[in-house]
Amino acid sequence: MPEERLQKILAKAGIASRRNAEELIRQGKVTVDGKVITEMGCRVDPHTQVVAFEGRPLCREEEKIYLLLNKPKGYVTTLHDPQGRPIVSSLLTGITSRVFPVGRLDFYTEGALILTNDGDFAERILHPRFEIERTYQAEVRGLPTHEKIHLLEEGLELEGKKTWPAKVSIIAKEPATTTLEITIHEGRKRQVRKMFEAIGHRVIALRRIAYGRLRLGTLPTGQYRRLTPADLELIIS
Ligand code: URA
Repeated sequence: MPEERLQKILAKAGIASRRNAEELIRQGKVTVDGKVITEMGCRVDPHTQVVAFEGRPLCREEEKIYLLLNKPKGYVTTLHDPQGRPIVSSLLTGITSRVFPVGRLDFYTEGALILTNDGDFAERILHPRFEIERTYQAEVRGLPTHEKIHLLEEGLELEGKKTWPAKVSIIAKEPATTTLEITIHEGRKRQVRKMFEAIGHRVIALRRIAYGRLRLGTLPTGQYRRLTPADLELIIS
């Protein structure tokens, strides 16, 4: 974790402006790991060292974490479930920070689910204004015609509101089913299932495979990994 100047840490914790924080340091009111610091420019790691002002430790800024989970079917993405069904956070063994899912995946939908404790980042992903794309692989009954696929691409009316244009391609044709990839940048409830229902093709299996350019790849079902800054770039750029 990068070190920061002591006056910046005091300012971030709301003790004083940076300039006033320098004065407080000079006056000997600030300690780092119990030692009074009076010189300027002291660099401190706020995640491992304890900074105190007039004897009271500052609240530590929580480390931001970003996880990519391959959600299995049969889990809910809420933090608790009144019906007692399994919740995704039970899969995050070893994570002590309180993270929340960025958007939802239905109980029967599997695949990529980001969890974080960074509210600004979550907002950035979820708000349609930022147009972060989410790609799904959907297995549907029957074989949708080009005309029907075109309706999805153009946007169709769902519950009185038109969907934004989608990108759709056929991946595989089986005798009774078709697998398609569909990319959208909205997160309405059960949106993909409803879009296919609207063209007369029921979804029988659904998996989210990418957020932006970040793909789920070979992450096994039920496993998670930490996202790197480069992964985050793939999502939001
Ligand atoms: N669309 C759906 O229908 N379900 C999901 O879980 C996500 C998108």
